[in-house]
Amino acid sequence: MKKILLFIFIAMAARHLSAQNQVTLQADSGKVIINKHIYGHFSEHLGKCIYGGFYVGEGNTKIPHTKGVRNDVVDALKKLKIPNLRWPGGCFADTYHWKDGIGPKNKRPTIVNTWWGGVTEDNSFGTHDFLDMCELLGAEPYLSGNVGSGTVQELSDWVQYVSFDGISPMSKLRKENGREKPWTVRFWGIGNEAWGCGGNMRPEYYANIYRQYATFMTGWDNNNKIFRIASGANSSDYNWTEVLMRDIPHNMLEGVGVHHYSVIDWSKKGSASEFSEQQYFTTMQRALKMEELVTKHAAIMDKYDPKKRVAMVVDEWGGWYDVEPGTNPGFLYQQNTMRDAMIAGVTLNIFNNHADRVRMANLAQTINVLQAVILTNDEKILLTPTYHVMEMYNVHQDATLLPVKIKTNDYTLNGEKLPAVSVSASRDKNGVTHISLVNIDGKNVQDVTIDIKGAKYTAVTGRVLSSPKIQDHNTFESPDKVKPAVFKGATLSTGKLSVKVPAFSVVVLELK
Ligand code: AHR
Repeated sequence: MKKILLFIFIAMAARHLSAQNQVTLQADSGKVIINKHIYGHFSEHLGKCIYGGFYVGEGNTKIPHTKGVRNDVVDALKKLKIPNLRWPGGCFADTYHWKDGIGPKNKRPTIVNTWWGGVTEDNSFGTHDFLDMCELLGAEPYLSGNVGSGTVQELSDWVQYVSFDGISPMSKLRKENGREKPWTVRFWGIGNEAWGCGGNMRPEYYANIYRQYATFMTGWDNNNKIFRIASGANSSDYNWTEVLMRDIPHNMLEGVGVHHYSVIDWSKKGSASEFSEQQYFTTMQRALKMEELVTKHAAIMDKYDPKKRVAMVVDEWGGWYDVEPGTNPGFLYQQNTMRDAMIAGVTLNIFNNHADRVRMANLAQTINVLQAVILTNDEKILLTPTYHVMEMYNVHQDATLLPVKIKTNDYTLNGEKLPAVSVSASRDKNGVTHISLVNIDGKNVQDVTIDIKGAKYTAVTGRVLSSPKIQDHNTFESPDKVKPAVFKGATLSTGKLSVKVPAFSVVVLELK
């Protein structure tokens, strides 16, 4: 009898142990810096991202603004510590002629935004507006050049117009338009989605075109080297990365892009806020695919660039659903729920953990489009769950990545499984360690035990983003329904940290 009881006890203890998620944190061995540019954003002339989102016009008397840019948006993005902003697209970039957007606003030509809703673009928000706005935000601009329908001369002129501090035709034009000193523009995209809306090119053809464009782009400033980013692969198109890395001389290439959206099914994306647990699960499958994508694209890059000189730039990522009922299908306006907070949390953990190669990324898109951090409705504004994750995670910007190993429980649904817990950790310049944990499990709290090696901490505090339902989101009527709170579920004992991570929540811990 005693033996049977002992067996039952051991079996129960084993079950309990397997229900623990185990993390090992190597707190003293970080070598890689998490580039702050991983936390970048993306603003396209699409729907209400620029017009009504960032920019309401100089003449607006209802909404407080600085030279037409909403002050509430600037305040919110500064709190995020937004490091860079990509503009003007996206697909729009390959139809955009920058000279249409400079000079007196009433004289600017209009164009039709053929990609996004067929609306007339009056070009009232142009180069000066964008670059001045970046200065206001304290963010580095990332300009996306027109390769699909532009010319080498046009892009070369744009570089000269914004960057040249001397006498030249373009710097003269800039001064005539009111800007004496150049701006600082390091990041340049050479086309966008060249395999699709940017020209439906084959990789070999694009690699040649890239070489041509890159040859005529120069920083025009001996102190600031230009950072050229090649239009990258569509998700798992590994051949695209292979050809670019093989065919473009690396002294012409500072970054290679990758785009990946978490989409259930392109022909049946589903509602952004009314979805089943199965749809949530599938979205998370798509989001977690980023781990495989980054690993495989990085392996190809390692083959051609073992010293990791060329950065991987995931310059479009995020969740993509059906537009909100009654809105223009070409405007890509969608709500943002705790599901999106999960996408953001796991994706940023993946980027952090691959910071040796992933050195820049751009969430699509900042305001009112796709997985936005801000939604606006005339003078009203709300911060989405995704905003709160980006804000909680900004402690990782430019911090030293600390290696973690994880053994996680599964989140299972209808016979399929996903890793329930994801983690990344870093030590900032003041020696403070931060650990970000995400539990995507739709039902269960996850108990996580973190073994700390190589450091002694005496205090732990934290913040959590959670909500009773995965569909929960903020609305203009109830803008603070989902927001971070103080986290009390972590306890520290010698060399061990025990954390109770609520179902579908994001936790960021601070250890001193
Ligand atoms: O972000 C929306 C669109 O998605 C971008 O314009 C394009 O690059 C991508 O296909």
